[in-house]
Amino acid sequence: MTTSTSTVPALAATAEQMTCRGRGILAADESIKTMSARLQAEGIAANETTRRDYRELLLTTERLSDSISGIILCDETFGQRLSDGRTFPEAARDAGLLPGIKVDTGTTPLPGLGGALITEGLDGLGTRLASYAARGAAFAKWRAVFDVRTITTHSARANGHALARYAALCQEHGIVPIVEPEVLCNGDHGLAESARATHLALASVFDELELSGVALRGLVLKPNFVTPGLGAPAAPASTVAAATLEVLSGTVPPAVPGIAFLSGGHPTADACAFLAELDATTERPWQVTFSFGRALVSDALRTWAGDAAHTAAAQGALRANCRHAAEATSRPPAT
Ligand code: 13P
Repeated sequence: MTTSTSTVPALAATAEQMTCRGRGILAADESIKTMSARLQAEGIAANETTRRDYRELLLTTERLSDSISGIILCDETFGQRLSDGRTFPEAARDAGLLPGIKVDTGTTPLPGLGGALITEGLDGLGTRLASYAARGAAFAKWRAVFDVRTITTHSARANGHALARYAALCQEHGIVPIVEPEVLCNGDHGLAESARATHLALASVFDELELSGVALRGLVLKPNFVTPGLGAPAAPASTVAAATLEVLSGTVPPAVPGIAFLSGGHPTADACAFLAELDATTERPWQVTFSFGRALVSDALRTWAGDAAHTAAAQGALRANCRHAAEATSRPPAT
């Protein structure tokens, strides 16, 4: 199977819908391990049922689709049912959201590279994508992880290669790939180091995407903002936006329809301020929006605390953060 030219317009339409003005993507795809740790940190027992209940709380928030275009799920949630019997992908469609699925299987160190990571999950991926597509997935996500201290040309190329193979397979199955090369903002590095690492990661990804024949119109890029490390003095939002735009302009072809940023552990207000500043720049060919996880959901998880009596308040917190982020994405790209 190869991506036929007839499927590219359909992929492009979905990619545009995912990153359209005034809406973004909710990342609710934490692995079982990460989600369990986040539940436990809020004093909630972590098991299949509580992970499901929490994701049901998120997805059943009223009027989520006012500010959210799609929701990324992990494999466990994708196969679970809400308390009313619907599957999560069905409930997402009913709520006006495109369902997406995280398909990588996590990271492992690259041998001999002092800690640089490679993301795994390519074996059998075609079969898994066919199953996800049959169960309603509109898009997928694969996350490569880089640290400014350990990124090398080899680790950037290896991860770019994996992202390109994943993206090509997704398109073959009619699924829009979210291509996520994340440079972590943990640490005390400065803005210039983040810019250097992000440039290397993105340049490698787009080299590999080009070599693999992926249709750029039919993907969504999910990068980090270019910021100083969270342990270093913060930079103003206008500086972050300028640095991010400079890196993106030097690496991301104009054919990419939309860029949906991850929040990376930045507080909600900061992530939204970075996005608003970027959105205000007129010299960009791509739509910019958000695909935040923590910046949208952390308040809701804390408010819920595993108690059904707090569900409505938690959903209110989620809705408020989604609206805040959506307000930061109101401008169309330059034509
Ligand atoms: P954060 O916004 O919490 O960084 O998560 C986004 C995401 O999907 C990371 O893969």
